[in-house]
Amino acid sequence: MSVEVENDLIKFSYGEAHACVAKKGCTLVSFVVDGDEYLYLSEAANLSSKSPTPVRGGMPLIFPAFGNSYLESLKTVQQHGFVRNMAWDFVIAEVLTECTVARFRLSHRQCEKEQQYKNWCEFYGQPIKFELTMVFELFPDCITVNTGLVNENVSELEFQFLYHTYFRVPCVRDMYITGLKGAKYLDRLQTRYGLDGSPMLKVEEQTDKLYELGENNREIDILSGNYNVRLTASDNLKDLVVWNPWEENAAKMKDFEPKSSYRNMCCVEFGTIGGTTVTQGQRWQCQHTITII
Ligand code: BG6
Repeated sequence: MSVEVENDLIKFSYGEAHACVAKKGCTLVSFVVDGDEYLYLSEAANLSSKSPTPVRGGMPLIFPAFGNSYLESLKTVQQHGFVRNMAWDFVIAEVLTECTVARFRLSHRQCEKEQQYKNWCEFYGQPIKFELTMVFELFPDCITVNTGLVNENVSELEFQFLYHTYFRVPCVRDMYITGLKGAKYLDRLQTRYGLDGSPMLKVEEQTDKLYELGENNREIDILSGNYNVRLTASDNLKDLVVWNPWEENAAKMKDFEPKSSYRNMCCVEFGTIGGTTVTQGQRWQCQHTITII
């Protein structure tokens, strides 16, 4: 059990579980259990807090906008928001009896010079005062992340939110995602709606699907040889994105290396895309757990 701070990286462990969070975007960049890494990280990912780009891989946080948002209040904010690009404060990490906990924080004070933050504020006609907190709890076979958002001064603050998690898999073609049966989805590549009728989803081509999760879709498993994980989340995260750029699009992404590594990853991302609001003085929170099975 240990906690180490190495410049912009916070490394912590609990038994045979090890995690590493980059202050850049408060991105979980590594989750290792019994020597096996469960997260994909591009070899070209830049983990420095000063890097101009978000981390390609791990679990960046998408907030306040998902994609190029269709929501009026978020139209001027860049793809996937700006908090993944900010250098978060590391607050504390502690080894407790049952787990190791690491806490991070980002507030409007750190964002004042960020153009995308300013764009977001324009809609409300005032500087948005907010605080985001991320608390990671590392157990022997799982990691839980708790996120809190406090809206200090806007009567009703609208946002989208997503854990943009890149899972590492030995071979994406041999991977199955279960738990999506009966879920409606939007195929974002073809702008087509559909219904998943199959108990197992395979990813065999460029994929960008946004699922609306029902009551029967609260446990999502990624099964891939010896790398099997179960994903769960608080009930307020009702959406799930499955994304793989595949060969052609991986080639276009500068920070995606090696180019062939689209074969060894898949993003499976819990979030809320429909537009959630938090009123002035209130705290919104959510939770997501990755368990090795
Ligand atoms: C996914 C989106 O969440 O992220 C995709 O569904 C997007 O549409 C992908 O291409 C990667 O986005 P980015 O901004 O991290 O390159």
